[in-house]
Amino acid sequence: MQDNRILEVIFHTLDSLVSGGDREHRKNVFKSITNVCAHHLEGLLLSAKTCRRCPLASALARGLVTAPQGQQETSRVSRRSKLYEGKAKILYEGPEPGTLIQYFKDDATAFNNQKKATLSGKGVLNNHISEHIFKGLTTVGVTNHFIRRLSMREQLIKSVEIIPLEVIVRNVAAGTLSKRLGLEEGTDLPRPLVEYCYKSDELGDPLIAEDHILTFGWANEYELDDILSTALRVNDFLSGLFCGIGIRLVDFKLEFGRLYEGDEYMTILADEISPDSCRLWDMETGEKLDKDRFRRDLGGEMEAYSEVARRLGILPSADVQELSEHRKKR
Ligand code: C5P
Repeated sequence: MQDNRILEVIFHTLDSLVSGGDREHRKNVFKSITNVCAHHLEGLLLSAKTCRRCPLASALARGLVTAPQGQQETSRVSRRSKLYEGKAKILYEGPEPGTLIQYFKDDATAFNNQKKATLSGKGVLNNHISEHIFKGLTTVGVTNHFIRRLSMREQLIKSVEIIPLEVIVRNVAAGTLSKRLGLEEGTDLPRPLVEYCYKSDELGDPLIAEDHILTFGWANEYELDDILSTALRVNDFLSGLFCGIGIRLVDFKLEFGRLYEGDEYMTILADEISPDSCRLWDMETGEKLDKDRFRRDLGGEMEAYSEVARRLGILPSADVQELSEHRKKR
């Protein structure tokens, strides 16, 4: 059998196993069929580049086989209607009314789609990191769309009407803020700064003021109050979470949606929170552990994302490769 065919069978087998049976049993069956290390089955790391032990990973890394990325893993959801495909995620109709399936792709884009790449394993890591963070936020009372993780790349979420805003919270000057105001990257801000952008690919997500939001009716005053206070609570939670694992939370982006119940609705946190949507710097070395590695051609994206997952306790240490190759490029 050709290597690619073997991989297809592996992923198909995993796919059918994932939907039923006991977790330990699935792990054992899958391990015995494929000899792939358990961590891949766990879905914590699909990236070939970041696992030193797994024979499949090393074959992938050496280009001997190609992971049929997305093909098999989508097979379960692809039977459902695709409702929306974004740059890094796909939304499918959910199994019950009022639910959706959010599928995390490996695609990475930057500069409003001008730079594109596929980062093998990114979707798996972001799915798990985002799950971890949204669950944590639920425990501190931040209502959000997350229901449960379904598989390596899929999570079940509540269907909301997305508010067309990107809400950015900043603790440290970086990125477009530094450019816009001529602030040196890394300068601590005197207090958290909340900015709003209008979600529009055609317009390049322009920065807007609160008054634009109210004038054009993208959200009303009550919603805006909720959004602002929730964004600051999320900042408190995330700053603490990352500080505890030696990571400085520089900034991040949030999205919100309206959850309807009859005629009433509430505004809740939606989308994802992951190294794609946050700036995360190692507190000791200043190393970037986020999407800036891709935006700025620093390399080591998956090593950085895995490192975040490892520190959050999502990924076993043995599976994380050092960022040392890329260490000179902070
Ligand atoms: O590029 P900028 O400095 O405005 O980004 C601020 C924060 O918002 C960064 O953490 C970035 O990853 C995130 N962001 C995002 N999606 C966008 C724009 C920014 O996740 N479309």
